[in-house]
Amino acid sequence: TDNIILSEGLARSEPGGFVLTPEFGRNYDEFLDFQIRKDDAWVVTFPKCGTTWTQEMVWMLINDCDAELAKQTPLTVRAPFLEVSRVESMESSPPEMFEFMPPVSSIAGVGNSPESSYTLVVYVARNPKDVIVSFYHHHKLMKMQGCDGNLENFADYFMKDQVIFCPYFPHILDAWTKRSHPNMLFIFYEDMKKDLRGEVEKVAKFLGKPLTEEKMFKLLEHLKFDNISKNESVNFEIGKKIGFMNQDGAFIRKGDWKNHFSPELNRRIDAWVEANLAETDLRFEMEL
Ligand code: A3P
Repeated sequence: TDNIILSEGLARSEPGGFVLTPEFGRNYDEFLDFQIRKDDAWVVTFPKCGTTWTQEMVWMLINDCDAELAKQTPLTVRAPFLEVSRVESMESSPPEMFEFMPPVSSIAGVGNSPESSYTLVVYVARNPKDVIVSFYHHHKLMKMQGCDGNLENFADYFMKDQVIFCPYFPHILDAWTKRSHPNMLFIFYEDMKKDLRGEVEKVAKFLGKPLTEEKMFKLLEHLKFDNISKNESVNFEIGKKIGFMNQDGAFIRKGDWKNHFSPELNRRIDAWVEANLAETDLRFEMEL
């Protein structure tokens, strides 16, 4: 396709399309040929919408809530990103790695008959204001982003769709239109924050992995902010040791757009949000 080069290494998938990683560009043909297996489970999100939290939840549900097993292997290996590069021991992967992952049917007991065999997608959305703040901190944390701007600059680039993985709205709105598909579960980060148990119950039912009360209790403890932020298998602190993250800041932090936006920036973001939601019934909770 006619890639538009935005800055070193980044490319758009097509004019007006998504800004993707150099790895995506290099593996482009393989991605086009990538065989989606009917019995896989996918966690699909725009960045900073609770990807890590949901990956850990889904992995635990599929793996009998075995927290000890989870701790032995980084989440990026247990639930690899399709589009991100290998980073030493935090290996994520281009397509060939997926060949070695057991399908959900063999580990979760779903999809054992042709009728029940399907690809499951858990899509997680988060309000755009917290996504902007969280993604800005992410850019400051990851050395490879080389971000030396301030939040205001970053928000402007974000609203112009010039930040990696943008545009935000087409990503979320595409999933929103598919939310009633039987193989898709659409959930919100804000609901996970308000009622984690309720969202875990939904995801467990969707994956065909109901929990005993004892396992539910353990899983909720495991997924609590304080425990996830200390859990080295998921909190990305290893990135500081192996050198791809700056020492200041943390991957698991507390979202808080209200402490970051000036009234003027907030008004501009409100106008951008309103314009993008004008023709849809999708609404976000911004006030958590
Ligand atoms: P903030 O940076 O706003 O705090 P992703 O995994 O998609 O990159 O999303 C990261 C965001 O999810 C971060 O948001 C992080 O703090 C938040 N997060 C991760 N685990 C969480 C948990 N257990 N409870 C609440 N928020 C969590």
